[in-house]
Amino acid sequence: MNPPPSEERIDRILDELSLPDKIALVDGRAGFPVGEDGRLVHPVAGHAESSLPPSGAIGTDGYVPANPLNGVPALHLCGAGVGLTDMYNQRAGLAQATVFPAPIGQTATWDPEITALFGRALAREAKAVGVNVLLAGACNLAVEPWCGRLFEYHGEDPLLSGVMVAGEVRGCQDEGVLASLKHYAANFCETGRFFVDMVIDERRLRHTELRVFETALEHCEPAAIMAAYNKVNGTYACEHPYLINQILKQEWGFDGWVMSDWGATHSTTASALAGLDQEFAMGQFYSDALAEAVGDGAVPVARLDDMVRRILRYALRLEPAEDPEPLDIAWSLDVAEHIARRSMTLLANDGVLPLQPDRSGSLLLIGGNADRAVLSGGGSASVRPRFGDPVNDAAEPVDAFLTVTWVPSSPLRTLRNALPGWDITYRAVDDPDLLEAAAAADLVVIMATQHACEGRDHDSLALPAGQDELILRVAAVNPDVVVVLQTGGPVLTGWADHVRAVLAAWYPGHRGAEALAAVLTGAENPSGKLPVTFPASADQPHHPHAPTVPIRPGCVRPERVPPHGDFSWVDPGFRLEYDQPVGYQWYDANGLAPAFCFGHGLSYTTFDYADLDVTVTDDGLRVTFLVSNSGEVAGREISQVYATLPTGAGEPPRRLAGWWGVDIEPRASEHVSIHVPLQTLAVWSVSAQCWMVPAGDHRIWVGRSSRDLPLSKEVGLTTSTLPCLADRIRSGRESGGPRPLAAEPAVRPRS
Ligand code: BGC
Repeated sequence: MNPPPSEERIDRILDELSLPDKIALVDGRAGFPVGEDGRLVHPVAGHAESSLPPSGAIGTDGYVPANPLNGVPALHLCGAGVGLTDMYNQRAGLAQATVFPAPIGQTATWDPEITALFGRALAREAKAVGVNVLLAGACNLAVEPWCGRLFEYHGEDPLLSGVMVAGEVRGCQDEGVLASLKHYAANFCETGRFFVDMVIDERRLRHTELRVFETALEHCEPAAIMAAYNKVNGTYACEHPYLINQILKQEWGFDGWVMSDWGATHSTTASALAGLDQEFAMGQFYSDALAEAVGDGAVPVARLDDMVRRILRYALRLEPAEDPEPLDIAWSLDVAEHIARRSMTLLANDGVLPLQPDRSGSLLLIGGNADRAVLSGGGSASVRPRFGDPVNDAAEPVDAFLTVTWVPSSPLRTLRNALPGWDITYRAVDDPDLLEAAAAADLVVIMATQHACEGRDHDSLALPAGQDELILRVAAVNPDVVVVLQTGGPVLTGWADHVRAVLAAWYPGHRGAEALAAVLTGAENPSGKLPVTFPASADQPHHPHAPTVPIRPGCVRPERVPPHGDFSWVDPGFRLEYDQPVGYQWYDANGLAPAFCFGHGLSYTTFDYADLDVTVTDDGLRVTFLVSNSGEVAGREISQVYATLPTGAGEPPRRLAGWWGVDIEPRASEHVSIHVPLQTLAVWSVSAQCWMVPAGDHRIWVGRSSRDLPLSKEVGLTTSTLPCLADRIRSGRESGGPRPLAAEPAVRPRS
């Protein structure tokens, strides 16, 4: 990446640019073919074979033409939820890409170095095909377990999500490709996403999703932020002065550009004045209409210049891409496997796992196309997998947005390789002799799947297509059943007591089957911890959008999935009110026991905790403790720190305050020292408009999960008011240090 351009250089360029030049930079267009009416053309809607991307574009989601006279490069923007997307099948010859494990699984590693690695790999894939802006960095919180995009997000805790997203953005940008954060803000359900009004009070919003964006911005410098489709408290996110101008740009000091989600802009002047810097993707409001608004003074020239300045600040860092950089595909696939191994989360195990490679027996593998593939999510995060989709082996291009995409990685093959002495066979769920075969096997492994897709929420958290019943039927004929979940988020596991082990593999990507075999056979000791709560029953999670909760009379629950690019909806006045804490904080506040709690994840060894010490430092707390591996094999433990704020703070019982993952040899111990910044212990004061640390006793908890916390200690703090993020970043820059990825936890070997 080039060094950041000086503001003087940008001034000079602004002097040179004509009004149409400036408009061309803020009027972002689709990089794939569009119809004559300017609307997105979808392959399945049947565009002519001869349709080509706009001149200069390469078929990706977004395109901004170059301004070569002034050294401004073209921007080629591409979706990057789990890899480089190609839902329009138009990127000539470049359609296939590596599918990495979904962000929800990446977050189960609790390791921002993992998301940074993902970001680097994404960027290398991007550079190989000429993409230079990645629509990555999904910050939306897992507020609703039904959300169809949960697999693209980073779980239900704002601190964990923000730190993990920041890793991804840093990885991309360190490799010279710009990245965005998205979808700002409160875009946590897909139902009615183009018009839903998310009604949420200021303190709740600050403590939940805004906290994710704020945390991410504290740890990375994304080039762009994508404003969401939905409304927030009555105003569309793309024309929200409080969210964009006041919070993002002033209070948080964000100096990059704010783009709209695709088709999410609703106005010219209101959006421009609220802080939206670039429209995508149909040229409705920021083309001629913006030129006119600037001409008649409704939008000041200075504001248009500010939009362009924000884009140039980052676009000018891009190095010219004369020739695409060749990609080391083997490296990409290795990265995918490394992340998948670390993301596997063992939810239950009575000792049946790991399977012993030196033993023999018969193993029946059931369902999930496990003879050929692993599952992937859909929507604008769907990737056309390298080497083809072995299930939809379509000669015709398919609509990748809605198609259930399968990734070529065969658990049958990898398990046979890893367990050479075992007789391993596969049967599909509709095999008429399934139960007979299950009864005869020494062990049954069921691949249970749940597909998820942008634009549509789940109707239920039950596994689809009768898989819950199937698991119970198989468990009734064979006591030795292992269930592997390939899902985009939490599902109901009412059958868990009837099986011997449950492994959450999420959507594990191109080397998912290799990672699965490694974990099932103990070559990799699982270390993932849940970034989301798994509810114990269908009616347990309480949220306004629960499928069981009736929508306000007169409102239609928009069940249909609009074809992508169909924005011809009419706003039905659909409101959802969010007034409860999120995820584990809500379960804790209501004294409910979930099936598997936030932070839970088993290992093939066990870890003990001792010697907690908590000391107050200038800028927070130092929490130290000893973790010991009390088992027989080496393992990785993600130790978690939670805080209970003083009673008067009005906060849920516990919040995550820090964590650290450490590899420990059997019978060895490690001293862990975690810095908990004051920010982590603060509450948003609506009256003072700042974060404040409440005075009083804060209880600090340490342990294995949000509900398994063997150590705790109280520490008294006086009240303090924290500077806003812009000031914190400014003072950080002045002291010359890079923004740390996490709270700079340190691990020292035992002295
Ligand atoms: C999604 C964004 C995505 C964009 C471009 C929209 O439908 O909400 O996340 O980046 O499409 O693909």
